[in-house]
Amino acid sequence: MRFLLLPLLAAALEPTVGRSVLPATHVVHEKRDLAGTGRWVKEDRVQPHVKLPNRIGLKQNEAALAGAQRWLMEAAHPASEQYGQHWTQEEVVEAFRPSADAVDQVLEWISETAGIAKHRITHTDNKAWLAFDAKAEQLETLLHATYYEHHDAADGRVMISCDKYHLPSHIRPHIDYITPGVKGIHVHSDELHKRSWKPEHHGGHGEHGGPFGWQPPKHRPAPHMPKYGNELATCDVAITPACIQALYDFEPLSPYAEVSPNNSMGIFEEGDFYAQEDLDSFFTNFTSYVPNGTHPKLDSIDGGQAPIANISEAGGESDLDFELAIPIIYPQTTTLYQTDDLYYAEGGNGTQSGIFNTFLDAIDGSYCTYAAYGENGNDPVLDPTYPDPNGYKGQLMCGIYKPTNVISISYGEQEQDLPAYYQQRQCNEFLKLGLQGVSIFVASGDTGVGGLSNDGTANGCLRNGTVFSPTQPNSCPWLTNVGATKVYPGRTVYEPESAVVDPAGQPYRGAYSSGGGFSNIFPIPDYQSDAIAGYFENYNPPYPYYFDGQYNGTNGLYNRNGRGIPDVAANGDNIATYVGGEFTLEGGTSASSPIFAALVTRINEERIKAGKGPVGFINPVLYNHPEVLNDIVNGTNPGCGTDGFSCSPGWDPVTGLGTPNYPKMLKLFMSLP
Ligand SMILES: *[C@@H]1O[C@H](CO)[C@@H](O)[C@H](O)[C@H]1NC(C)=O
Ligand SMILES: *[C@@H]1O[C@H](CO)[C@@H](O)[C@H](O)[C@H]1NC(C)=O
Ligand SMILES: *[C@@H]1O[C@H](CO)[C@@H](O)[C@H](O)[C@H]1NC(C)=O
Ligand SMILES: *[C@@H]1O[C@H](CO)[C@@H](O)[C@H](O)[C@H]1NC(C)=O
Ligand SMILES: *[C@@H]1O[C@H](CO)[C@@H](O)[C@H](O)[C@H]1NC(C)=O
Ligand SMILES: *[C@@H]1O[C@H](CO)[C@@H](O)[C@H](O)[C@H]1NC(C)=O
Ligand SMILES: *[C@@H]1O[C@H](CO)[C@@H](O)[C@H](O)[C@H]1NC(C)=O
Ligand SMILES: *[C@@H]1O[C@H](CO)[C@@H](O)[C@H](O)[C@H]1NC(C)=O
Repeated sequence: MRFLLLPLLAAALEPTVGRSVLPATHVVHEKRDLAGTGRWVKEDRVQPHVKLPNRIGLKQNEAALAGAQRWLMEAAHPASEQYGQHWTQEEVVEAFRPSADAVDQVLEWISETAGIAKHRITHTDNKAWLAFDAKAEQLETLLHATYYEHHDAADGRVMISCDKYHLPSHIRPHIDYITPGVKGIHVHSDELHKRSWKPEHHGGHGEHGGPFGWQPPKHRPAPHMPKYGNELATCDVAITPACIQALYDFEPLSPYAEVSPNNSMGIFEEGDFYAQEDLDSFFTNFTSYVPNGTHPKLDSIDGGQAPIANISEAGGESDLDFELAIPIIYPQTTTLYQTDDLYYAEGGNGTQSGIFNTFLDAIDGSYCTYAAYGENGNDPVLDPTYPDPNGYKGQLMCGIYKPTNVISISYGEQEQDLPAYYQQRQCNEFLKLGLQGVSIFVASGDTGVGGLSNDGTANGCLRNGTVFSPTQPNSCPWLTNVGATKVYPGRTVYEPESAVVDPAGQPYRGAYSSGGGFSNIFPIPDYQSDAIAGYFENYNPPYPYYFDGQYNGTNGLYNRNGRGIPDVAANGDNIATYVGGEFTLEGGTSASSPIFAALVTRINEERIKAGKGPVGFINPVLYNHPEVLNDIVNGTNPGCGTDGFSCSPGWDPVTGLGTPNYPKMLKLFMSLP
C-alpha cells in the first residue's frame, strides 16, 4: 500500500536548522503548519536541559505494507477466489512485524548521534516502538529540530513541539513518526523551567471544547406527539423501528430464533453511557418483542463502565446506538466496547491523543504500545497511561478481547487535528482488522464538507474557513463510512430519502448536514476509483480543486485525488429515542452507522447459518454491486460557506452509494463464497 506523504513534505532541504548545519544526508521527515489555525501560539524555545519522553514509531514491515492492500482485496473483492478467507490474528502480527535489521539501524543512529546508551532505549512488546527519555538539546541534535513551547488558545495548556524535524535518508524508511515532533506533548508550564518534568496525563477528548471531540448526536425535545407507536404515517416526523424496517425492507427476527453465539454486534463508546431504564422505555413503547433488561455484553476497556446508574446522566450517543441496533438484530446480542476510565474519557488532565488507540490495543494486541515508559510508569505521549492514579488501576489492556464481526463507531475528529503519519498508522490497523474478517462502520460526521467550529478554526474549515475539512477516521480507505439520509416532511417511507440538511434555525443545536468530501491524506483506493471518476465526469462539482492534499488557501477547496467519503448512507434524522428518561428525537450520522452495521450483522448471521464466514471488509463488494443499495439523488452537504457537494445518480460525496436494500444485499452476500 502506498500513502501520500502529504501535506507534510514540503521543501526537502533546508540550509540551517537551529544552531547546526543540516547535513546533506538528512531530509525533512514531518512538517506542520500551525499558523493560520489561530489555536497554537508559539512561545519560548524549550530549555536545553528539559527532559522529554521520546517515542519513535517504527514503520511496519515494508513488504507487508506493500502487500497489505492486495491481501485485503484477495479476501474482500467479490471476484477473488479467496473471497471470505480471513487471516488469524497471529498471521497478521507475524506479517507486519518490523524487520530486526531496521530496528538495529535506528538504535545505532540514536546512540551514536544523541549519545543515548542502547540499554536506555526500550523496544516495545509488539516491536513497533522505541522509547527513551532525552534532554531537549539531545533531541534537537538528533532530529535537527528546534522545540518550542506553544500556548493553546483553546484551553490554556502548554504543548511542546517543533515545526519540522529531519532524519538521515537511510533511517527515514524505517520510521513512521516521532513524538514530540510535529505532534506535540502536553506539559505544565511550571515544570518547563525545572531541570526535568513529570509529564501530565492526557488522553480523552471530551465534548468540552477540544478539537478531538466526538460528534454528539443532536437532539431536541419531541413535540407533544402523543404516541408514535409503529405508525408508518408519521415517519416524516419520527423514525421508529417500524420506519427503519419499511425503509430498508426487512423484518425483525423471531424473538425465539436460534442465533450464533459468535456473532454479537460490537459498538464503541467513550465518555458516554447508556441507561438501562432508557432502553427499557424504548423497548416498551416500540419493540414489544424485546424484553426489558435486554442489554449489551460489556467489554470494559481500561476501566470503562456502563450502564450509568443515574438516569439523568445517560448519554445520547449510547442510548441512541443501542435503541437502534438491538431492535434490528434481536435476539442476536450486542457487545459494548466502553473505552477508558472516567478520568480520561472526560478529558483527563489535558488532552492530546486520537481517540481509538486504547480501543484498538484492547481488540488487537499487536497495536499495543508499551505502557511502562516514563517516570512513575506513565506513558504521557500518545495514549492514556494505565495504571491511572486518577482511575483504572490495572495495566493497559492489550489484545484481551476478540473483535466482534461487526463494529460500529459514531465518534470522530477532523483530519487536520492529527498528523498524517498518526492517521496512516491507525488506518493500517483498520486494514488488519479487515484482514481478520471484521467490518468497521464509522459515522461520516455531522458538519457537511466542514468540521466542528470549536476545533481551533473559525468555522471548522481549513485556511481561514474556506477549504473543506475532511473527517477522520473515516477517511481511512479500509473501513466503511456512513452518511445520513432523512425522510423530509410530507414524504413517506415508500419514496426515496434525501441527504440530511438541517441548517441553523431548525430546532437543533447548530447546523447539521451529512459529512462528506475527499481526504487530504489518503489517495483514492482502487475499489473506489471508477465510482469517483464517474462522479467527476458526469456531475462535476462547481468548485476549484487541488491535488495530492496540497491546499494553500487559494488553489482550490477540495482534493481531487483523495479517498471519497462516505461509502454508504442510512437514516440519521428525527430518530425516536429515550434519553435521560425523556422521549426525544435525535439526529446525526451517529444513527446511520449502527443502522447499517446492524443489517450487516444480520447478513453475517445468515452466512454463518449457511456455513460461511462473516463478510469482513465490504466496500469492494458494494462498489462492484451498487444495485444492492438505494441510490440517493437529492440533497447536499453544506459547509465552509458553500452548499457543499450534491447528491447525484451513482456514488456521490454526500450519501455514497446509498442506503441499504436489505433483501438485495442479503442475496448478493449469500451468493459469495
Ligand atoms: C486569514 O485572513 C486574514 C484576514 O483576512 C489574513 O490576514 C490572513 O493572512 C489569512 N490567513 C491565511 C492562512 O490565509
Ligand atoms: C409510550 O407508550 C405509552 C403507553 O402506551 C404512551 O402513553 C406514550 O405516549 C408512548 N410514547 C411515545 C413517544 O410513543
Ligand atoms: C463459536 O466459537 C467457538 C470458539 O471459537 C467455537 O468453538 C464454536 O463452535 C462456535 N459456535 C458456532 C455456533 O459457530
Ligand atoms: C419495562 O420498563 C419500562 C421502563 O422502566 C416500564 O415502563 C415498563 O413498565 C416495564 N415493563 C415491564 C413489563 O416490566
Ligand atoms: C443524578 O444526576 C443529576 C444530574 O447530574 C444530579 O442533579 C442528581 O443529583 C443525581 N442524582 C443522584 C441520586 O445522584
Ligand atoms: C492536573 O495537573 C496539575 C499539575 O500537575 C495538578 O495540579 C492538578 O491537580 C491536576 N488535576 C487533576 C484533576 O488531576
Ligand atoms: C497556491 O497554489 C497555486 C497553484 O499551485 C499557486 O499559483 C499560488 O501562488 C499558491 N498560493 C500561495 C499563497 O502559495
Ligand atoms: C430534497 O432535499 C431537500 C433538502 O436538501 C428537501 O428540502 C426536499 O424536500 C427534498 N426533495 C424531495 C423530493 O425529497
